[in-house]
Amino acid sequence: MSDQDASPVPSLRWVELPEGPVVVLLDQTRLPREEVEFFCTDVPALVDAIRALRVRGAPLLGVAGGYGVALAAARGFDVEESARQLAAARPTAVNLAWGVQRVLACHRRILDAGGTPEAAARAALGEARAVHREDAEAAERLAESGADLLRELVPGGGLRILTHCNTGRLVSGGEGTALAVVWRLHRAGEVRTLWVDETRPLFQGSRLTAYEAAREGVPYSVLPDNAAGSLFAAGEVDAVLTGADRIAADGSVANKIGTYPLAVLARYHHVPFVVVAPTSTVDLATDTGSLIEVEQRSGHEVTEPVPGTPVAPLGARAYNPAFDVTPPELVTAIVTEAGVVSPVTGDDLADLCSPPGRT
Ligand code: MRU
Repeated sequence: MSDQDASPVPSLRWVELPEGPVVVLLDQTRLPREEVEFFCTDVPALVDAIRALRVRGAPLLGVAGGYGVALAAARGFDVEESARQLAAARPTAVNLAWGVQRVLACHRRILDAGGTPEAAARAALGEARAVHREDAEAAERLAESGADLLRELVPGGGLRILTHCNTGRLVSGGEGTALAVVWRLHRAGEVRTLWVDETRPLFQGSRLTAYEAAREGVPYSVLPDNAAGSLFAAGEVDAVLTGADRIAADGSVANKIGTYPLAVLARYHHVPFVVVAPTSTVDLATDTGSLIEVEQRSGHEVTEPVPGTPVAPLGARAYNPAFDVTPPELVTAIVTEAGVVSPVTGDDLADLCSPPGRT
């Protein structure tokens, strides 16, 4: 059996070992070279893994944050402090703080009602598992609605879809967000090509999306990010599909750096630009895109993307925001598990995403 036939290693799992529970991550920094799991026995290890992008992608960060709180509770660590550290590990993907808060609230409820720490820990784990399961269910609905929308926007099949960063199984309790739509369309024989932006500086596209596309048997080509313009100009793109890390109340979309220029290109070339994300990515408490905190990462990721192989002179400074923000008027549609918003307006987004869904 080839690697591609074997079931994928889960991107995240909770394992009960004799010495106590652990959160086990598929280490995404080692892909595509090797599928290696990373064991987190405590919250600082999980926080470091989140910062180092061993586990990444908005929906999975929510799941990881939830299990992190459950881990703290099960191992008798300071749950409130652990939750603070987890929520602050990365600032832009709102799912992380959302997953942490949801499980923390459940833990507090049990204690406030006079429950024992053991009962609170059991409840926290149940809630973390619910976050995980619900994300898988959301992915299923995203795939269905996104595929239906693409068929409407670009009738005739044979789709050439451009995507950025990585939004598949690796970021999800299920099949992902934007890539879940691609997998769905591919299984229906409707994808001609998946154009995969390499997604500098950390190559989530060429390392991770290409790895997933190969596993799925989707025909794909990797392109340097700066080749996207010529691809549009050549008429080779029918639609752009991306995920999101945070969607503000006005419909602005924060996603991996390099997403905004694709939206501008798509508008210029009259190509639909579609964002696919669970409602846990929508942050109605952040009014506009300009209020979204964009994570700034180390310049070394730009000047020395492979440690030991510098691509800039020693001491070169670098600009390395991890995300950019696309204004709502450039987004053709936002697909969530609760429905599709198109055109993208704050009112329609609020109607779709008002509680339940957020605690
Ligand atoms: O820095 P990363 O790799 O965590 O960034 C991930 C992205 O920007 C994804 O596109 C986003 O989280 C959507 S995942 C469904």
